Amino acid sequence: MPEPPHPFDRRFLLVTGKGGVGKSTVTAMLALRSAQQGHKTLVMELNTQPRVAELLGHEAAGPEVTCVERNLWLVNIDPSRALEEYAVMKLRFRALYKLVFENPVMQSLVRFVPGLNDLLMLGKAFNHERETDEDGGPAWDRILIDAPATGHGITFFRLPKIIRDAVPAGNMHRETAEMWALLTDPQRTAVHLVALPEELPVRETTELHAHLRDLGLPLGHLFLNMVPPPLLDATTRADFDRLRSRPADARLGLLWDITQVRLGREAQATGYAEELSALRLPQVTLPMQYSPTFGRPQIEALLGALPAS
Ligand SMILES: Nc1ncnc2c1ncn2[C@@H]1O[C@H](COP(=O)(O)OP(=O)(O)OP(=O)(O)O)[C@@H](O)[C@H]1O
Ligand SMILES: [Mg+2]
Repeated sequence: MPEPPHPFDRRFLLVTGKGGVGKSTVTAMLALRSAQQGHKTLVMELNTQPRVAELLGHEAAGPEVTCVERNLWLVNIDPSRALEEYAVMKLRFRALYKLVFENPVMQSLVRFVPGLNDLLMLGKAFNHERETDEDGGPAWDRILIDAPATGHGITFFRLPKIIRDAVPAGNMHRETAEMWALLTDPQRTAVHLVALPEELPVRETTELHAHLRDLGLPLGHLFLNMVPPPLLDATTRADFDRLRSRPADARLGLLWDITQVRLGREAQATGYAEELSALRLPQVTLPMQYSPTFGRPQIEALLGALPAS
C-alpha cells in the first residue's frame, strides 16, 4: 500500500490561507516538528510581523538568517534589503544601486510597482532553495514560508509567471521562469492551506484552492484549525442525548444550554470538514486550544495532531 501523504513530503513548503486563520501557527508547528526530527529547517516570514519567532518563544528574527534552536533557523525578509542585495548581485555595482534605488524619485516609483516587494521576497526564498552546503548538497532540508494571506496571496503566487511572460528574455525572464518552475514542481513544492470551520473561511478556502489548482501549483495538506474538540466522552454524550428536554433546575438548565451551544459548534465543524473534503486534500484537524495565552506550549500541544512521520 502506498504511504499516506505527509506535510513533509516536499522540501519547499508554503503555508497560506485567509487572514488570522493560523498560517503562522501551522508554520511554527511544522518548523518545530521538522527541527525536532533532526532536519535543518529554515522558516521565512515575508515582511510581516515576525509571528513565528514569537509563537515559538524566540526573539524576533531580522533579515539575517538566525539559528534560534537546534536545527531551526528563522529569517524575516525585508524587501528594501532584498532589493539592494538583488541589485548589487545582478548589477554587480553598489554605486549604481545607490544611484538608482536611493534616489527619492526612484524610491517612490519602486513603491508603486505592484508586486515588486513580493517578487523580491519570493526571489530570496528561491535563492535559499538553491543554496548548497560545503558538500554541494542542499543547505536546507526544509524551507517553510509563512506566505501572505489570501487575496494578496494569489497575486503573490502568480507573480513569477506574470513577469516570466511579460519579460521576453534576459536575466529577469530566466530567474522568474526558474522560480515558476520551482513553485509548480510537485516533486519539490507543496502549498499547504489553512482554514477555520466557519462559513466565510471555508468559502474563501474553496476559492483559493480553485485558483491555486488552476495556476498549476501543487497543493499539500489542508489544516482545519481551531476545531472544537469533543466536549463529552462517548458515554457522557449518550447520557446527555437521553435527556430529552432542558432540566427545570436553573443551574442544570444553564449547563444544558452551554452544552447545547458547544455540541452545535462541534457538529458545525464536522459539517465544514466534510464540505472541505470535496477539495480532496489530506486534512489535518487542529483542535482549539482553550487557553488565555497562545505560545510555545500551545504549539507543542498541537504537534500531537500531525501525522507521524
Ligand atoms: N488552534 C488554536 N487554538 C486557539 N487559538 C488559536 C489556534 N490557532 C491560532 N489561534 C489564535 O489565533 C491567532 C492567529 O493565529 P496566527 O497568527 O497563526 O494566524 P495567521 O493566519 O498567521 O494570521 P495573519 O493573517 O495575521 O498572519 C493566534 O495568535 C492565536 O491566538
Ligand atoms: Mg501570520
